[in-house]
Amino acid sequence: IVEVISDYITLKRAGVNFKALCPFHNEKTPSFMVSSSKQIFHCFGCGEGGDVIGFVMKFSNLDFIEAVELLADRAGIVLEKNISNGYKEINDKKNRLFQINKDAAKYFYFNLKQNNSAYQYLINRGISSNTIKTFGLGFSKKNWDDLLKFLKSKGYDEKEIEEVGLIIKSKKNNGYYDRFRNRVMYPIFDVKGRIIGFGGRVLDNSLPKYLNSPDSPVFSKGNNLYGLNIAKQFSREKNMILVEGYMDVISLYNHGVKHSVASLGTAFTEQQAKLLKRYSEKFYICYDSDTAGLKATDKAFDIFKKLELKAKAIILPKGKDPDDYIRERGKEALKMLTKNSLDYIDFKIYLFKQRHNLSSTEGKINFTKEISSLLSQIKSPVEVDAYITKISEETKLSIDAIKSEIFRTGNNYSPKTISKDKYIYNKYRDNNIDRIIPVKSKLEPGYLDAEKRLLNLIINDKNIFNKIKDNLTPLNFLNESHRKIASEIYKIYEEEEIIIFDNLAECFNDEDLKTVSSIKALDVQLDGHEKEKAVEDFINKIKYNNLKIKKDNIKKQIEMIENKKEKTEGDEEKFKQLCSVLININRDLKFHR
Ligand code: UTP
Ligand code: MN
Repeated sequence: IVEVISDYITLKRAGVNFKALCPFHNEKTPSFMVSSSKQIFHCFGCGEGGDVIGFVMKFSNLDFIEAVELLADRAGIVLEKNISNGYKEINDKKNRLFQINKDAAKYFYFNLKQNNSAYQYLINRGISSNTIKTFGLGFSKKNWDDLLKFLKSKGYDEKEIEEVGLIIKSKKNNGYYDRFRNRVMYPIFDVKGRIIGFGGRVLDNSLPKYLNSPDSPVFSKGNNLYGLNIAKQFSREKNMILVEGYMDVISLYNHGVKHSVASLGTAFTEQQAKLLKRYSEKFYICYDSDTAGLKATDKAFDIFKKLELKAKAIILPKGKDPDDYIRERGKEALKMLTKNSLDYIDFKIYLFKQRHNLSSTEGKINFTKEISSLLSQIKSPVEVDAYITKISEETKLSIDAIKSEIFRTGNNYSPKTISKDKYIYNKYRDNNIDRIIPVKSKLEPGYLDAEKRLLNLIINDKNIFNKIKDNLTPLNFLNESHRKIASEIYKIYEEEEIIIFDNLAECFNDEDLKTVSSIKALDVQLDGHEKEKAVEDFINKIKYNNLKIKKDNIKKQIEMIENKKEKTEGDEEKFKQLCSVLININRDLKFHR
């Protein structure tokens, strides 16, 4: 396992184990451990763990069989597959369909060499004969049954030729005719290099410009990307360019940019993103710069974001697609555009700018509103600040106005994992702007009851105390009396095994004693599972109310600074700090809701 994982990340020896920065979450100090003796890995930060197969599955986004195949390959082991009959039948059939496509592609390629006008068409578009060969481009003849005749002469069954979509059944005479006629043909390969379908382009301006194979047992559009079989060999670059069309991929390749793929004219899908994830870490979306292209870029961004993949958008001049651009301006110019590509937020700013008329006040306000709700998701105050300055420059709205918009919007982002939540917690636990000043009127109904019931459960069961003590401190109890009682209980438990209710009496004044009695009087009877659930609920409620009070407190402090006539540098710094804390609180509030 040490050897294999070392292929992917750098491991450092740590005693008998090895450690590294965890590849599955962001961290600055290593909590990812690999044990050679146990043959496992485990991350103490995010909880990810497993054996060597699990690592490869997770790291390269493979399924079990694919991971085993990869590891067998690496070790030079031949895997013997135990194929069941049903599976074999399907497999044989697919192989026949692949074979039909392959023979068709060879035939189209042969045709292209014979047909001067088609060949000339590609040459006129600047495509070299080498590129034509690499992509296996071809030509389908004008006749209605040219390919059909050819494939039948090779012994293929009409039904199966129809199944891969190369021929269509005629409604008139029950015969078949070729789907692709008089078109430049673009075979579509899967990652294993098998031909799964075709695209065919007219030579003139007639319509439809492109015809594509329909989905078939070997072809499903949303699951494949055009050019991936080639681009994956060049993903040493660690990035890939996502474009819209066949000709974009081909033309980029032709000009030496060999790591691009096309989403085949349909909307980019999550499955496609997952597939890409195996071959690259970073992506450039390079769609047309018209309205439809921007919209598609926006959607693609969302998909990359959902899968936590790094993506940026390359903005082309109006009316140009990547093919036009690289032909006119060359590889270096495209590289420059890549350097100037926009990250998620910058792209949104660019997009919203197109949508709103920034010369009108209304446009400015709507623009700022849309951007603000996005900015409230950013953790780094420095980054937020940079964007705020930028937006202020764009809109000529005051920085203060933008800030107040951002913090009014709150936060729409909800964290997925507890570990993330804990991380945020630790981040501002030691912060002195984090002091809690309880405000009674702001408490949720039933809240005090939750504190009471939790105290009752803790007093009666030390196991509960052991479980929650790190997560909930006496200071989290918002009722003053409860807080005192909790801190006594915590103290006693640190030293003793059990708590006798009546002994608690020694610790308190009359007022608090009343509270102790009322806690004792509660009859909380729950069995194991119910109890666990109840404890969880109570803790959540308490945390939630803590956060709410913290939030009010922070907001007051922010307001105070905002209302100051003259702000010192210290104020600015504190303002930023407060804002970032506020954003985190908003996020946590969602989590505990
Ligand atoms: P475009 O219209 O942008 O074509 O469609 P293109 O790639 O620039 O093609 P050229 O340069 O004119 O040859 C983008 C993609 O949308 C799909 C194709 O996959 C195309 O590459 N498309 C387009 C179709 O499937 N059918 C069509 O009729 C048009
Ligand atoms: Mn084009």
